[in-house]
Amino acid sequence: MTFSSKRENNLSHLAIIMDGNGRWSEYRGLPRQNGHKEGVKSLRNLLTYIEDFKIPYLTVFSFSTDNWKRPKSETSNLMNLLRKFIQTDLTELHKKNVKIRVIGNRERIPKDIINLINSSEDLTKNNNGLYLQIAFNYSGRDELVNAIKKISSSAKTGDIDPSAIDEQIVSSNLFTAGIPEPDLLIRTGSEKRVSNFLLWQLAYTEIFFDETLWPDFNRDNLTIAINDFNNRYRRFGNIKKDIKNDTT
Ligand code: FPP
Repeated sequence: MTFSSKRENNLSHLAIIMDGNGRWSEYRGLPRQNGHKEGVKSLRNLLTYIEDFKIPYLTVFSFSTDNWKRPKSETSNLMNLLRKFIQTDLTELHKKNVKIRVIGNRERIPKDIINLINSSEDLTKNNNGLYLQIAFNYSGRDELVNAIKKISSSAKTGDIDPSAIDEQIVSSNLFTAGIPEPDLLIRTGSEKRVSNFLLWQLAYTEIFFDETLWPDFNRDNLTIAINDFNNRYRRFGNIKKDIKNDTT
């Protein structure tokens, strides 16, 4: 499977909702945790083959604040997966020059995991290869509430003039501050919704729904999604022409 690039759209930031782990196990008569474990393997594989696609930023949704509604055994398992992922993969990711940032709410996350998150961010902070954002205990609404709180307290202390609040100020108070908005969102597992992911940042993002369950997602799936993206017109609210390639 190869790239087609009739229209190079410059995919700078790819975001992924890695859905379908539960169904992957249920179809096999296995406990849900097996699907999540396979999901980590699939993420690990992605972090290897994504190098060939020259995408600078990758954001993956690995635990939603809404996932706390799941049984305790499953939420503990998902916490444990991030713990293990950092313990097992950090050295290799650092060697590959990956810069790690974990976005989301730190409340409810066990202290030892917060320490691991902080040390992984610290260790990789000067890396300039793939910028990997892991959305963990994250939701778009929670991120916006957090930004609104920060902006209001700056307004209260007089550091921000409320009438000067603009999109740039909002963006710079999000967990994703400083990172370009996603160009493409892939959601695996056949559901067609954004599920509280990057609500502000997805304003002009192209969305690709892939029926593949996340544990089965591979390089060919990514190639198909990117080829599809490369053949889209992005208009950003303008009239029908290819903004990015239009030089008139
Ligand atoms: C959705 O599948 C997936 C999640 C809630 C977790 C995603 C997590 C991983 C891929 C692994 C974790 C990675 C790290 C780095 C910790 P689902 O359980 O909603 O699947 P279903 O819709 O089939 O039930």
